[in-house]
Amino acid sequence: MRRLIDRLAAGERLTEAEYAALVTGFTPELAQYAAALADDARKKIYGNRIFVRGLIEVGNRCKNDCYYCGIRRSNATVPRYCLTPEEILGCCAEGHALGFRTFVLQGGEGCLSLETVCGLVRRIKRDYPDCAVTLSLGEFPTEAYRAMREAGADRYLLRHETADPAHYRRLHPASMSFENRMRCLRDLKALGFQTGCGFMVGSPFQTPQSLAKDLKFIEGFQPEMCGIGPFLPQKDTPFGAYPGGSGELTCFLLSLLRLMHPHMLIPATTALGTVDPHGREKGILAGANVVMPNLSPTSERKKYALYDHKICTGDESAQCIACMRARMASIGFAVTVDRGDIIL
Ligand code: 5AD
Ligand code: FES
Repeated sequence: MRRLIDRLAAGERLTEAEYAALVTGFTPELAQYAAALADDARKKIYGNRIFVRGLIEVGNRCKNDCYYCGIRRSNATVPRYCLTPEEILGCCAEGHALGFRTFVLQGGEGCLSLETVCGLVRRIKRDYPDCAVTLSLGEFPTEAYRAMREAGADRYLLRHETADPAHYRRLHPASMSFENRMRCLRDLKALGFQTGCGFMVGSPFQTPQSLAKDLKFIEGFQPEMCGIGPFLPQKDTPFGAYPGGSGELTCFLLSLLRLMHPHMLIPATTALGTVDPHGREKGILAGANVVMPNLSPTSERKKYALYDHKICTGDESAQCIACMRARMASIGFAVTVDRGDIIL
């Protein structure tokens, strides 16, 4: 197994069967071995610098019905909200003063109209020319993505969720398709967005083979960003009774991603911080180099409940970034004030 990790670290590609063998061969010792190599690889490019993104959860209305997601359309128990452009700009103003130079606008699909999104992007890029804007608003037609890009958006996050079409069909209703998801990712890249994909670890019906397909897909797609976190059940969804994913396996996969693409921007996610109180620190030590503290208004935070027990829902933005700086400092890393573009 160490031999496979050494080959990955040497820049070699592995077969799908070899990635599956790594996943199956996961042990804490092997994970530690991979983490040490991943930490080296990341330090050579990024030093001890951690990039920070201000996450603004713009709204939890969603037209989709993903079986795992707490803000799915069919969940009638969640109170819905959608921030106004003024509220979103207010979050950016607060974030800029706190040292954020990337704003991530994330929300349920169909929550903001294309016109609103483009207007907001133009306004943010005009008011904060030193900042990057990342959108994470789901699937759109090609021309809509083009309009967002022309409005000035720099990056787009759209997790592929699983690279196994059969697995995709078990996580989503028939109204959503693997093919359209992949079409979106290809479009985003072709339009010049710094593009992020990603998947959940331990989602229902996931197998080592489907994880191997995720790794193989990411190897070939070469995204600038990749977000992974453990699946966590949300009690009012069809997957509410399934067990959550493992933080340890997530960290191992973070190391493999770092070794596969040493330059990639990889967040230590909120979901990882939710399964383990030191999950984000462990994620950084395994090879991640980005954190995404929450800049959403405290009044709405609890409503953006993709899964149960989500952390950071009660904290003011200032507390959240201060907490993050302290957490990173505690493991020898420094949160920087800059856009945090990929270093190639
Ligand atoms: N557990 C963990 N992650 C989830 N996401 C959605 N629902 C859950 C859940 N129950 C992730 C999806 C989505 C991202 C915004 O959050 O991967 O793309
Ligand atoms: Fe949000 Fe710690 S990062 S409170």
